[in-house]
Amino acid sequence: MRFVVTAGPTREYIEPVRFLSNPSTGKMGFAIAREAARRGHDVVLVAGPVSLKTPSGVRRVDVSSAREMLAAVEAALADAKPSDVLVASAAVADWRPAGCAKSKLKKRNMDGVLRLVRNPDILRTVKGVRKVGFAAETGDAIPEAARKCRAKGAEMIVANDVAEKGCGFGTDTNRVAFVRPDGSVERLPLMAKSAVARRIVRAVERGAKI
Ligand code: CTP
Repeated sequence: MRFVVTAGPTREYIEPVRFLSNPSTGKMGFAIAREAARRGHDVVLVAGPVSLKTPSGVRRVDVSSAREMLAAVEAALADAKPSDVLVASAAVADWRPAGCAKSKLKKRNMDGVLRLVRNPDILRTVKGVRKVGFAAETGDAIPEAARKCRAKGAEMIVANDVAEKGCGFGTDTNRVAFVRPDGSVERLPLMAKSAVARRIVRAVERGAKI
């Protein structure tokens, strides 16, 4: 089975030295890619700017912006079969500056207003393959996850509360719940991201049953 995994943050440049981003470190996505490769799958890891080593047996494509991430995912899935899977763990910036200035902006020339435009939603845009997404919320992630699962055509959303201790950006552990489009919820205890990755890859392998 082919796994295309997105991981890490994206950077949306305002000008050559400043950008909009978030604190995602890519650990969850890299753990999924590592586990899928270990289990013999063909894995493409599309990574935003992170400082993690490429897991062995994984093809890695480095990108910066959301639009580059979408293009890399589409290229990786160009000859995809319906049984291939996109696992979208990246913390993609929903918005980007309306334009990127050619040179560094001087504060005397700025008026304090930054105009933003919507970025493509990678998970929603990709069609014709199986899809697993994530929902990172501050607060109860489950109702939002069920909604996102249906809206984005995913077969499963991995929901977590990033405000909870031991969860979210930069941690080595995570407490997640698997949420399906029918609203069913499977809650997992707090565990290492490597163990969460194993559960996700196994759930994907079980295929129709998830
Ligand atoms: N996602 C994506 N492309 C985007 C935004 C999100 O592929 N431009 C994917 C994420 O990788 C994740 C899922 O969509 O798998 C949910 O992302 P999240 O940011 O939690 O949800 P949004 O749809 O952006 O909703 P909101 O920000 O309103 O909560």
